[in-house]
Amino acid sequence: MSLLITFIYLVAGICFIMGLKLLGKTHTARKGNLISAFGMFLAVVGTFLKIMQAHGTEMSFGNIQYILIGMVIGTIIGIPAAKLVKMTAMPEMVALFNGFGGIASLLVGWSEVYSHSDGVAAWASHADGLTLTTIYLAVLIGGVTFTGSLIAYAKLAEKISSKPFLYTGQNLVNGIVLLAAVAGAIIFVMDPGNQWVFWIGTVLALVIGVAVVIPIGGADMPVVISLMNSYSGLAACAAGFAVNNTLLITTGALVGASGIVLTNIMCKAMNRSLANVLFSGFGAAGGSTQSSSKEQGEAKPMSPEDAYYILENAQSVVFIPGYGMAVAQAQHAVKEFADLLERNGCEVKYAVHPVAGRMPGHMNVLLAEANVPYDQLVEMEDINPVMDQQDVAIVIGANDVVNPDAREDENSTIYGMPIINADYARTVFILKRSMASGFAGIQNPLFFKDNSYMIFGDAKKTMEALIAEFKEAIAA
Ligand code: TAP
Repeated sequence: MSLLITFIYLVAGICFIMGLKLLGKTHTARKGNLISAFGMFLAVVGTFLKIMQAHGTEMSFGNIQYILIGMVIGTIIGIPAAKLVKMTAMPEMVALFNGFGGIASLLVGWSEVYSHSDGVAAWASHADGLTLTTIYLAVLIGGVTFTGSLIAYAKLAEKISSKPFLYTGQNLVNGIVLLAAVAGAIIFVMDPGNQWVFWIGTVLALVIGVAVVIPIGGADMPVVISLMNSYSGLAACAAGFAVNNTLLITTGALVGASGIVLTNIMCKAMNRSLANVLFSGFGAAGGSTQSSSKEQGEAKPMSPEDAYYILENAQSVVFIPGYGMAVAQAQHAVKEFADLLERNGCEVKYAVHPVAGRMPGHMNVLLAEANVPYDQLVEMEDINPVMDQQDVAIVIGANDVVNPDAREDENSTIYGMPIINADYARTVFILKRSMASGFAGIQNPLFFKDNSYMIFGDAKKTMEALIAEFKEAIAA
C-alpha cells in the first residue's frame, strides 16, 4: 500500500508541475488546468488510501465522514461559485480561495496540537523541534493569509473602502506585532505545553493579516492577492511538514514559488518594487491620484460613423485592450469587428500588456473566451518595434498601459513602467466613456496627441456601432 500511495503522490506532483508549465502559455492553459485538476484528484485518492492504511482492518465510515462532509459542502459552494463568477470578479474569487487555503493550514496546525487522544501535555513532552516549528509556521502564515485575503477581497469587492488606510507609525506597529509573533514561535518551540503562547500566536497571525493589507490601495490588491497566494502555499508547505505529507509539502512549495514569481512579474510590469506596493499607500488621497497639471490641449472626439471611414481603408489594425474592455464585456464585439476588418483585407493583431486589466492574464482570458486566435495575440515587446507600421491602434478601455508619460515624463508616478506605444501608430482611436483617469489616477497625454481621436461611450456599444457601419456598407 505504501508504495502505491507514494506512486500516486509522485504522479500527482508531476501533474502539478506539468500543469503549471502549461498554464504559462495561453494556448496550453486549458490543458494545464485539466492536468492540474487530475493531479488534485489523484492527491485526494492517495489521501483516502493513506487513511485506510492508517486504520487497517478497523477502518470505518466514521474515519472519513468529516472529509466527505467537507467535500460535499465544498462542491455545493464551489461549482455554482465558479460558474456564476463574472470575469471582472475573478480576483475577488481568487482572494477568497487563498483565504480558505490559509485557514485550512491554520486548522491543520491546530489539529496537530489538539487531536491527540493522550492530551496536549503528553504530546508536547515528546514533540520534536521541526514538527513544532512547522505547526507554528502553518498557523502563523495560514492566519496571515486568511485575514489578509479577506481584507483584500473586501477591498476589491468594495465591501469596505478600497483606499489605503494609513496612520503615523504604522510600519513600526506592524513590525512590533510581527516580532511578538516570532518571539511566540521561539517560546512555543521551547515550551510546547505553554498553550497561551499558541493561542496568542494565532490571534497575532490574524491581526498581522489585517494590518499588512489595510495600508494597500484597492487597485494594488491583485499584487497582494498574488502574494497571499504565495503565502497560502508556504502555509500548506509548513502544514505538510507538520503532518508529514510529502505531497502537501511539494504542492505548497510549488504554490509558494509560483506565487512569488507572479508577484515579481506584476511588480516589474508596473515598474514598482514589492516594498513600494506594500508600504507606499499608492492611491492614498493626495498621493498619486493627482492629475498631471501639464497643459494638454484639446482632445478630439470622433463618432463611430466617422471612424468607419478611416478603418475601412486601414491595412493593419492593432487592438489594445484594457480594464474597460472587461468592464464593458466588449470582447465578443471586438472579435466580430476584427472578423469584418479581416474580411475587408486588413491585418489584425491584439497587443496585450502584462498588467492590462486587474489580474494577470485578464485580457488573454477574455480574448480566449471570444475565440480570438492565439497567433493574433502579440506581446508588448513584439508589437512596440512595429507599432509605427500600423495604420490604426484601437485602444479599448485601456489607459495607463498606453500612457506615454511612463516613457517621457520623469515626474510621472508611472515613469519607467513599460507601455504599449499606441501613440506611434498612424491613427489612434481611444474607446472610453469619458476623460477620466485609469487605475494610476493620472492624466493621459495620449488623448491629446495629433493622431489621437476619442470615441466616447461604453466600449461594447462603440464596437457594435462600428460593426453596424461595416455591415451597412457591405449590404449597400
Ligand atoms: P486603467 O488604466 O485602469 O484604465 C481603464 C480605463 O477603462 C478607464 O480609464 C476607464 O475610462 C475605461 N473604462 C471603464 N469602463 C469602461 C467601459 N464600460 N467602456 C469603455 N471604457 C471603460 O486600465 P489598464 O490600461 O488596463 O491598466 C491597468 C492598470 O491596473 C495599470 O495601472 C496596472 O498597473 C494596474 N494593475 C494591474 C494589475 C494586473 S495584474 N493586471 C494588477 C495591479 C494593478 P472611463 O471611465 O472614461 O470609461
